[in-house]
Amino acid sequence: MHTRVMSWEEGKEFETISRTNQPKVFQLRLLQFLLLFLLVGLGVMIFSMNMIRYFGVESVVPVARSHFQPCFEEANTLETWIRPPSKLLHSMNDSELFWRASFVPGIKNYPFRRIPKIAFMFMTKGPLPLSPLWERFFKGHKGLYSIYVHSLPSYDADFPASSVFYKRQIPSQVVEWGMMSMCDAERRLLANALLDIDNEWFILLSESCIPLHNFSIVYRYLSRSRYSFIGAFDEDSPFGRGRYNPNLAPQVNLTEWRKGSQWFEVNRKLAIDIVGDNTFYPRFKEFCRPSCYVDEHYFQTMLTILAPHLLANRTTTWVDWSRGGAHPATFGQADITKEFFKKIIEGGTCIYNNQPTSLCFLFARKFAPSALEPLLDLASEVFGY
Ligand SMILES: *[C@@H]1O[C@H](CO)[C@@H](O)[C@H](O)[C@H]1NC(C)=O
Ligand SMILES: *[C@@H]1O[C@H](CO)[C@@H](O)[C@H](O)[C@H]1NC(C)=O
Ligand SMILES: *[C@@H]1O[C@H](CO)[C@@H](O)[C@H](O)[C@H]1NC(C)=O
Ligand SMILES: *[C@@H]1O[C@H](CO)[C@@H](O)[C@H](O)[C@H]1NC(C)=O
Repeated sequence: MHTRVMSWEEGKEFETISRTNQPKVFQLRLLQFLLLFLLVGLGVMIFSMNMIRYFGVESVVPVARSHFQPCFEEANTLETWIRPPSKLLHSMNDSELFWRASFVPGIKNYPFRRIPKIAFMFMTKGPLPLSPLWERFFKGHKGLYSIYVHSLPSYDADFPASSVFYKRQIPSQVVEWGMMSMCDAERRLLANALLDIDNEWFILLSESCIPLHNFSIVYRYLSRSRYSFIGAFDEDSPFGRGRYNPNLAPQVNLTEWRKGSQWFEVNRKLAIDIVGDNTFYPRFKEFCRPSCYVDEHYFQTMLTILAPHLLANRTTTWVDWSRGGAHPATFGQADITKEFFKKIIEGGTCIYNNQPTSLCFLFARKFAPSALEPLLDLASEVFGY
């Protein structure tokens, strides 16, 4: 009975086909057609998979749609070389990324209009509780800055599409305070930011940092400075020279050993020096371990050796170490007053382009999430944004 049912179905099929009068030829054609279809489909799939791997989904699709031209023709325009990546997520590992980021043009005059930008690089554990303050700081200055965030890989950022932090997270790895993994993360931030050729100044910040002045002042201060703001000093104490390991010689002498705050600002040349370093990195990784805190010595010492004439040797990020201990003071809601900031903003003098100035700090840390509301209240009057 079972075979009967089958042959009835087959018979019905045969009936339809036999109407063409050429059942065998038709079946063969159908088979050929299906095979061709399968092959073409497979080809298209492999092609697009490769395209997506090399150019990313967003860059492949609009190009194909808008010009109806194969993607490889696009590589012949200057545009493809100077356009920043449309997505910050990528699948390069650190060696691949650093190699790519270390590319330097041999001709110093740009044959296109380049408006130099500041790359704000946020090193965070997870959320950015002070982001509403930063949103206000950046408002109205699109095109003069770009933002990069390195957080713990387990953290999922959920900024709305309207936020300046939306999709600004870079591929991240676990970071331990005072260890080489911290410098690795800082190099990762620099390398990702270097992929945008318009980025000229690179500033490292944390989730507890705030801007002390409006964007125009910060931009002018950094762009007109002859030096990069990286703290680097020779401290004759157990916490300075005392952390020097003689195994670092001959690459690093005791007299070249420097200490300074982790929160730096460097220009594009120094950023490339940091990302491209293969000389000092292995020495510091092996011979500067706690109680040598590598993030306070590696870039500071390396840049002092490679480019001392480009360093201001001071940081622009204010912090309060006056209480002593391993961590600086954190300020919360009750600390936020006009007087408090008056002291920071007008409180001292420093050297800017070889001249004394009272404008020494552009940023300050550390501020707790509870400080946000009073900061927003003060910002327009005290910080000018
Ligand atoms: C990155 O990948 C390349 C190629 O697979 C490999 O040679 C290199 O060691 C990798 N680097 C890191 C840091 O994992
Ligand atoms: C280290 O110091 C010695 C003498 O103090 C000097 O001869 C040598 O050139 C220095 N090395 C470097 C890398 O500067
Ligand atoms: C910073 O220090 C280096 C030596 O460590 C020195 O050569 C350089 O001139 C200093 N920079 C400024 C702006 O004084
Ligand atoms: C930024 O602050 C300065 C000084 O407080 C002020 O003169 C300037 O108008 C401000 N700029 C903007 C764009 O608000």
